[in-house]
Amino acid sequence: MMEAHAGGPSDNESPESNPVVAIDGPAASGKSSVAREVAKALGFVFVSSGAMYRAFTWEVLRRGANSGDRDAVLSVLGETGFQCATSDGAATILVNGADPGEAAHTGEVNANVSTVAAYPEVRKALLVEQRGFAHVGTGVVMEGRDIGTVVFPDTPYKFYVDASPEVRQARRRAQGIEDSVLERDKQDSSRETAPLRQAEDAAVIDSSDLTLGEVVGKVLRLLKEKGLAAASGA
Ligand code: DC
Repeated sequence: MMEAHAGGPSDNESPESNPVVAIDGPAASGKSSVAREVAKALGFVFVSSGAMYRAFTWEVLRRGANSGDRDAVLSVLGETGFQCATSDGAATILVNGADPGEAAHTGEVNANVSTVAAYPEVRKALLVEQRGFAHVGTGVVMEGRDIGTVVFPDTPYKFYVDASPEVRQARRRAQGIEDSVLERDKQDSSRETAPLRQAEDAAVIDSSDLTLGEVVGKVLRLLKEKGLAAASGA
């Protein structure tokens, strides 16, 4: 079932926002799987903000633009409409009416997405879409790089999921996906606008030696301590 994006305030998180769980971290740290499971347990909507940057990068490449050519990327942005919605408890994004699907995870997108995501105009456009989710369903679990620092800085529910570089690169290799995670991290943490960094008030979890279930359990316990209980009462 596809539900239309409810929209929301464009520049500031509204005070009457639903609860937002922010999960940030570097590439392949496991935050996406963790966020999906935490959302399921809470009955919240799962949102991958990386999927939005990937979808737009896919559009840039599809149009034959060079990601390093700022004018070309901004020209594509000017002609691009985003449509966010939810389907089966997870966010979806259409770019000019098209769903990139698995094409958003190719080696080519991996190699270009951090360059595209560094343009402030691109970030501003997607920030509006991300904040719109604060008014969808009963709450959201959103993962990315700047969710706790820039997108929802006022949420009390912040996590930073990390893992050693070796573990992260090995995870991608095991998936058979071409992805220079350390190169992306370097670009994502050194850009001027909304760089990847730990929010001061985020709970840091190193997932290097933990199973997915252990990380999810840890997040849910910490949320419970803050008064946010899982739908099952777990
Ligand atoms: O989480 P991911 O690997 O799917 O993200 C892909 C890229 O998107 C990431 O390398 C940088 C960009 N991104 C971002 O700049 N800010 C976010 N909040 C999420 C992703």
